[in-house]
Amino acid sequence: MDELVLEYRDVMLGYEEAPVLTRVDLRVRRGELVVIAGSSGCGKSTLLKAAIGLLPAWEGQVRLFGQDVATASEGRLAELRARTGMLFQGGVLINSLTITENVALPLEHRSGLPPRVQEELVRMKLALVGLEAHRHKTPPQLSGGMRKRAALARALALDPELLLCDEPSAGLDPVTAAGLDELLLHLREALGMTLVVVTHELSSIETIADRLVIVADGRVAFDGSLPQAKQSELAAVQDFLQRRPAEVGALGPSLLERAREGESEVRG
Ligand SMILES: Nc1ncnc2c1ncn2[C@@H]1O[C@H](COP(=O)(O)OP(=O)(O)O)[C@@H](O)[C@H]1O
Ligand SMILES: [Mg+2]
Repeated sequence: MDELVLEYRDVMLGYEEAPVLTRVDLRVRRGELVVIAGSSGCGKSTLLKAAIGLLPAWEGQVRLFGQDVATASEGRLAELRARTGMLFQGGVLINSLTITENVALPLEHRSGLPPRVQEELVRMKLALVGLEAHRHKTPPQLSGGMRKRAALARALALDPELLLCDEPSAGLDPVTAAGLDELLLHLREALGMTLVVVTHELSSIETIADRLVIVADGRVAFDGSLPQAKQSELAAVQDFLQRRPAEVGALGPSLLERAREGESEVRG
């Protein structure tokens, strides 16, 4: 029941000589949707990279599906990564390929399935993110929100049990961002996926987070619910909540509701 999908045990991470995270302790259980927040440069992307063994821990252990990524063999690590979808910050679609071809890439490399089956799986993933009608377009022919969804379809290509999303709604307008949040919730509710989502957006945190983790000063400064965060007197939590006065103000009638109203106005 309480199976740990991702675990950071007293982890220290950094680049060359410079430590970024000095002591991170964090456990993600199957089926959770955990939001990781914190100021720019605090190490959120670094944490996600370490989860899939792209960056070795200086100290401590990162365990993915119970396996220490530092000691996993190459084959085993590839298998763990295949069970983990990663939506990188900024997305990394190949502009010269159609989104169908982009989503097919992980399948071609890893699945060993016949082409006919791969095609069908790609079509299903594009339908899941609402892009089936655009499947023959290349990324430059799509809007920012559509590109994000295409990148998400690619992250979902191998039916991951765990999805790591790095600032999925960065640069999107509120309506598009709210749509993406709903899609993430759907993945968890309909497909039982475990999600770790890095985001700055309080509106997103309000909509999707079971659990909010705030990273500051090289460690997990807060781990709890958003209501708990609002009542916390920890400086790191208050800094995070108050750094964006416009969004905090929007927590009454939530930004999501306002976004929906805006959308219906446009449509009507
Ligand atoms: N490849 C890299 N080489 C050296 N330093 C890096 C690299 N990537 C990130 N950093 C540094 O590590 C710190 C944390 O970065 P990052 O994890 O991207 O922060 P966040 O995602 O929270 O904004 C920053 O100071 C950043 O400059
Ligand atoms: Mg980042």
